[in-house]
Amino acid sequence: MTGLRSDNWYGGDNRDGYIHRAWMRRGLPQSAFEGRPQIAIANTASDLTPCNAHFNEVAESVKQGVYEAGGIPQNLPVMSLGETNVRPTAMLWRNLAAMSMEEMFRANPVDGVVLLGGCDKTIPALLMAAASVDLPAVVIPGGPMLSGSFRGRPMACGTDIWKLSEDVRAGAMTQELFQRSESSMIRSRGHCNTMGTASTMGIVAEALGMTIPGLAGTPAADSRLLEASHATGRLAVDLVRSDRRPSQVITKAAFHNAIVALGAIGGSTNAVVHLLAIAGRLGVDLSLDDFDRIGSNVPMLVNLQPAGEYLMEDLFRAGGPLAVLQQVKDLLDPSAITVTGKPLVDYLTDQEIWDSAVIGTRDAPIQDHAGIAVLQGNLAPLGAIIKPAAATPALLTHRGRAVVFDSVEDCHARIDDPDLEVDADSVLVLRGCGPKGYPGMPEVSNMPLPTKLLQQGIRDMVRICDGRMSGTAYGTVVLHVAPEAAAGGPLALVRDGDMIELDVPNRVLRLDVSDEELATRSAEPAMTESVAHPLRGWEKLYVDHVGQADTGVDLDFLVGATGNAVGRESH
Ligand code: FES
Ligand code: MG
Repeated sequence: MTGLRSDNWYGGDNRDGYIHRAWMRRGLPQSAFEGRPQIAIANTASDLTPCNAHFNEVAESVKQGVYEAGGIPQNLPVMSLGETNVRPTAMLWRNLAAMSMEEMFRANPVDGVVLLGGCDKTIPALLMAAASVDLPAVVIPGGPMLSGSFRGRPMACGTDIWKLSEDVRAGAMTQELFQRSESSMIRSRGHCNTMGTASTMGIVAEALGMTIPGLAGTPAADSRLLEASHATGRLAVDLVRSDRRPSQVITKAAFHNAIVALGAIGGSTNAVVHLLAIAGRLGVDLSLDDFDRIGSNVPMLVNLQPAGEYLMEDLFRAGGPLAVLQQVKDLLDPSAITVTGKPLVDYLTDQEIWDSAVIGTRDAPIQDHAGIAVLQGNLAPLGAIIKPAAATPALLTHRGRAVVFDSVEDCHARIDDPDLEVDADSVLVLRGCGPKGYPGMPEVSNMPLPTKLLQQGIRDMVRICDGRMSGTAYGTVVLHVAPEAAAGGPLALVRDGDMIELDVPNRVLRLDVSDEELATRSAEPAMTESVAHPLRGWEKLYVDHVGQADTGVDLDFLVGATGNAVGRESH
């Protein structure tokens, strides 16, 4: 190791070095500033991000590891995002979190960073920031909650709220019991325990090579999380000494492995926009088509809710993500290294499956094909996605008449109108929910079905939207339509009664309306009322600069890297 970046602050006997050191001393010896890697612990702990609230304890274990390896740890609280609280959607703030983290990593005397993330947007924001700064970095996924149970039945975060509230409406559960179940569902520290976005992104971070292998999926309340956090602190010092950076780890080969992992775990569709955004920061040529090409034939091996039966604690007990990846080792790119310097595939030789009900094998997968299908056609010139594993097979090839809603509120107001012309073959279209339109691309795409059809026993319909869908949801839902309606996408031109063709086997999403007719329609004013028109602040900046789903919904001026050059002196 040659000179440290932090030497630019702490080195030297002059007035400037004195100032930088003196305020940081507070009991630290002079030697703390003499050639010792300064490791920032990017800490998303917040009482308003309950999924990450345990990170101060995790940070203490990281600190011990950093000291033990000869570094100096510094806790760096960074912008946090609590998925259940933040409005209008945490996704609106992902890029702001990433931008603020990036700037703070660069502005401070930091040689390496440990990234503490859990709740949905936090790991993506941390990885985007680390990619743009390209300082040695390693992720600690905060881990899932312990499995809930209530009156003898298991409880899954998110997924069970819908089931229980239906029970209350049907008179099968009292309001009092419903309230009492709250603490049973959210039983412990940690993030959602289904295969939602948080669980997915923790495992994806590991598949990218950005965690100590074997760490992802460790429950937040498990002692082994703290043990691994200690080891991660040690590793962070090592990363600085060996000058191993995100740009060396998160390569095209690493994205290949992340996409295979995404398929094998049946992960959240949200991982698509997050991975595209991370790739954009690194200048890695990753496109929507890569998800289809690499991921759509990967067998799904994990039997977790919402699609399956079990919860994250069960996945960990059954062998964890590495046991899953070992089954698809032949599909992985052996050249992709991890933060340890060794290839990911080197960790896939002696993993065992301890419960085959939770983790399937290559010979007996949970589903033959998982992954993401990317659709093309005149309704989505830049693409749209669907998760076939979460859809009703019979609906994957379908033609139906559009029933169009211009906003979520419009949908809620009219979906149960007895006069709404809708039947089981209709295609529900919801627009105005893209990055610019909402703004922030919320998780609203799996719109509710009309009650009159539910009463007929209909449980799924084709739905099309320019928004996202919760990782805990499912249905035959076409998501991430690009360009979105508010950015002039053809989705804005659909009218009630238009025929729409969905053909997932052939990857087609088509509006059966002639080009001439569409040209006529596009000359008329369309749905400007129902999309966002922010006048100031972050929302204004966001709407003016945000890109579409096919490139990861990043801001145009944040794509790419600025690096970690040391700024001018502050005094
Ligand atoms: Fe935080 Fe689900 S609400 S991970
Ligand atoms: Mg979510």
